[in-house]
Amino acid sequence: MKKILVTGGCGYIGSHTVVDLIENGFDVISVDNNSRSSARILEGVEKITGKKVKNYKVDLCNYDDTFAIFQENEDIAGIIHFAAYKAVGESVAEPLMYFENNVVSLINLLKCVQEFKIPYFVFSSSCTVYGNPDTIPVTEKTPPKPAESPYGYTKQMGEQIINEFSKVNQVQSILLRYFNPVGAHPSIQIGELPIGKPANLVPAITQTAIGKLPQMKVFGDDYPTRDGSCIRDYIHVSDIAHAHTLSLQYLIEGKSAKTCEVFNLGSGNGVTVLEAIHTFEKVSGVKLNYAIAPRRSGDVIAIYANNELAVKTLGWNIRYSLDDMMLTAWKWEQRLATDSKMYNRQNAGLN
Ligand code: WQD
Repeated sequence: MKKILVTGGCGYIGSHTVVDLIENGFDVISVDNNSRSSARILEGVEKITGKKVKNYKVDLCNYDDTFAIFQENEDIAGIIHFAAYKAVGESVAEPLMYFENNVVSLINLLKCVQEFKIPYFVFSSSCTVYGNPDTIPVTEKTPPKPAESPYGYTKQMGEQIINEFSKVNQVQSILLRYFNPVGAHPSIQIGELPIGKPANLVPAITQTAIGKLPQMKVFGDDYPTRDGSCIRDYIHVSDIAHAHTLSLQYLIEGKSAKTCEVFNLGSGNGVTVLEAIHTFEKVSGVKLNYAIAPRRSGDVIAIYANNELAVKTLGWNIRYSLDDMMLTAWKWEQRLATDSKMYNRQNAGLN
């Protein structure tokens, strides 16, 4: 079995990808300092796959500690790099913390790729690299615009660093630009664990519906869209996860002729905030308590993906609908409410 190193394997998309990799015959190790995640999520991974996944609790900004992982695992066949800070608002308040954490960790990892001759590297990028696009849907050829936040800049910089590095090293890389990952694994054994008050829409919806939040705010209904609220491309986290497995298989099977390729991971459907809320109410049977509030600074008016390249090149088939996304997110929130002892990080801080 080929061994894959997943950085951020205890995170939301990371843990779902670990499940998908194992289900597709890979051996997986995780590197995650658990600064923004809980190693307990790997208990859920084990419940789904039957496999205990080893996590190295290491900060990738520490080069020596990172190097030691590769010394201990000479058989790493590929890397998927998720580990990064990703809170847009926090990045505006703490730019240096974001540039240092997200860029230094990547550079340390790439130094190990060079030293240990790791042949394949998949990078967690984001639609945020497009900024506020002039035309939608966006394709991989849509020129990136200035990012809306330091977080977005770290993704743009990460892509450039990997692209230049791959040109002069024996490694093939794939950059995956996620749109809005939402939902939870259908088993409801793993899901999103937002820290504190959620910034993202779907956790805000489910926490309001379960009563953890008194009311959620819709940030603006006066945009030039069909119902005045912003348009996004929501995509189930398990569909995003499977695209990572397909990317590695595509590289391992020698189907890529390039040193670095980019793929949009979105459903291809633009959905407004109010449509997302109404879909949640339909599938959950819960009337959501929300109020219209002023626009949130930095919000893109509308963006959704042209995902044809990933569908055609990687053979990526999207399995989950918006209904599935909302229903699994809701079931996961209900699970958290009953099993909060398992995921006490939300209430009593990170463990
Ligand atoms: C979606 C829409 C909000 C919360 C960010 C990152 C992106 C990716 C996904 C990492 C917006 C509205 C939200 C709320 C609301 N992250 N909203 N009330 O900003 O599209 O993308 O997360 O890769 O890189 O930029 O996601 O879920 O925060 O917002 O009205 O309580 O929901 O205004 O229109 P976003 P989001």
